Amino acid sequence: MTDHELPPLPYDYDALEPHISEQVLTWHHDTHHQGYVNGLNSAEETLAENRSNGEFGSSGSAIRNVTHNGCGHYLHTMFWENMSPEGGDEPSGDLADRIEEDFGSYEGWKGEFEAAAKNASGWALLVYDPVSKQLRNLVVDKHDQGALWGSHPILALDVWEHSYYYDYGPDRGDFISNFFEVVDWDDVAENYQDVASTYE
Ligand SMILES: [Fe+2]
Repeated sequence: MTDHELPPLPYDYDALEPHISEQVLTWHHDTHHQGYVNGLNSAEETLAENRSNGEFGSSGSAIRNVTHNGCGHYLHTMFWENMSPEGGDEPSGDLADRIEEDFGSYEGWKGEFEAAAKNASGWALLVYDPVSKQLRNLVVDKHDQGALWGSHPILALDVWEHSYYYDYGPDRGDFISNFFEVVDWDDVAENYQDVASTYE
């Protein structure tokens, strides 16, 4: 078993200013994301020790910790990749066609995604659902509550307070609007192509 490691940010800490400050990105990546990586490694160590000892008393809570910290680690990794200082604009190509097919229009998707982000106590996700073969928006509490089994996130927006409060105070809607100024639609389109080509 290999330890999980914090991936470096794909840009400088101040690269997303003025939409996300250097201070918030530094805390968010170096402290919060690192904490989920550490928590995942620690929970997996506990599970491995318990297997070798044949004592499973703490394994149930350790599995919960794997889910919480693992989802935190995976979603933050996607969130960083989903943004770019050259981001903004709107999706194009196959992804744009698919959004129109599944949500009626880009505006229909965006309005729904923003509503998900305002409602969530964790994350708003755009996912590909391989069972019904369609895109969906999900409202996720913490990192893992509200999952649709089998679905693959392709765009993640972190709406935990550590994600925006220092920059925006209680105005989460302003943060959500600014997120769209840095969305890297090329990255989202790549995620979409990877997952859709697996199932279709
Ligand atoms: Fe976060």
